[in-house]
Amino acid sequence: MVRSFEKVREEEINVMMEKVEKAASSSSPLNLSGLLSSLTSDLICRIALGRKYSSDEEEVSNTYNVKEIVRKTMELSGSFPLGEYIPSLAWIDTIRGVDDKVEEVSNKIDSFLEKAVQEHVADHADKERSDDFVDILVSIQREKTMGFEFGNSEIKNLILDVFLGGTATTFTLLEWTMTELMRHPECMKKLKDDIYSASTTTAKLYVSEEEVANMKYLKAVIKEVLRLHPPVPIILRGLCEDIKLKGYDIAEGTLVIINAWAIQRDTETWGADAEEFRPERHLDTLVEFEGQDFMYIPFGSGRRRCPGIRFGLTMAEVTLANLVKRFDWRAKVKPLGDDKPDLAEATGVDVCRKFPLVVFPSCALFSM
Ligand code: HEM
Repeated sequence: MVRSFEKVREEEINVMMEKVEKAASSSSPLNLSGLLSSLTSDLICRIALGRKYSSDEEEVSNTYNVKEIVRKTMELSGSFPLGEYIPSLAWIDTIRGVDDKVEEVSNKIDSFLEKAVQEHVADHADKERSDDFVDILVSIQREKTMGFEFGNSEIKNLILDVFLGGTATTFTLLEWTMTELMRHPECMKKLKDDIYSASTTTAKLYVSEEEVANMKYLKAVIKEVLRLHPPVPIILRGLCEDIKLKGYDIAEGTLVIINAWAIQRDTETWGADAEEFRPERHLDTLVEFEGQDFMYIPFGSGRRRCPGIRFGLTMAEVTLANLVKRFDWRAKVKPLGDDKPDLAEATGVDVCRKFPLVVFPSCALFSM
């Protein structure tokens, strides 16, 4: 299924490349964060819903701006809901307005998803097509073969899972990757060499997913970014039964908070340079994404680990290969003359940059 959407990825990446090219030819600053966020939400929209629902689209009102909905949900999920930890203080959440904001966002999400499902149900009656995720879910609903309730609510919940799980995470990975590469020009240079030597197409053309498969350094760069900047730094588990761990009794229902961010920067396992960005460390190691190496869990671990690993990585790898191959990148210089992008982090369940990454791209292929 991931491979079957290659064409959609190519089309959307090319739309983005045109915008970068425009900024490059006019030497204007470019909000790369905004561009990458639109790319990931447009891509997931097309794959899950068959079409885009971005604010660029003519008749789409603010209510249906997916990018906005995802960002707000992530922000709210990361805000500290006092009532969940100290139930007697739940009233403070009401005063802070957390409850109202949650209700407002969930109403927006519900009407957006309801509209998308209704469009598919109507389309389904007209023509035989099962191109996107909702089409597949609507067919399953019609066939009534699930053996359990599978109504519009279940469909809406599944689509929401894909949106919340897939958009902000992949965008965050791309945003931090470009940040770290601009902070480490020597890594950017090595990555360019890797991309040029593995890409068989002529200079001007799109780097394909087949070519990306052979780019070893590119994969190491992404692995290192996921180590230092896991988009989901905190992983949660509720205990299903009472357990005894290292002499402690832990009751069923206890919320366990796993700090992937700290685990992945631990000097005892990663060495004295654990805080440094050094993709080379992954070139000859066998640490994998599947959650079996507990020192490295950017996609979680066990039965609840991320089901979108391939989906997210494929999107990130091919986007990055194209951005780096075709352009040279320079960050906006700050008042004190520093031209390296900062590393300030936003708050939220998904930890992206606090401030947008503003850059000046220039066409790299002309200087070859
Ligand atoms: C670089 C991109 C991504 C990262 C870093 C990431 C990371 C994660 C993490 C850490 C979890 C929690 C795992 C756990 O609790 O053990 C998770 C869950 C999840 N992810 Fe991803 N993810 C990414 C991309 C995607 C994509 C593209 C999709 C869908 C297309 C997706 C769908 C989901 C879903 C549905 C869950 C919930 C699984 C469950 O609770 O059973 N993710 N992801």
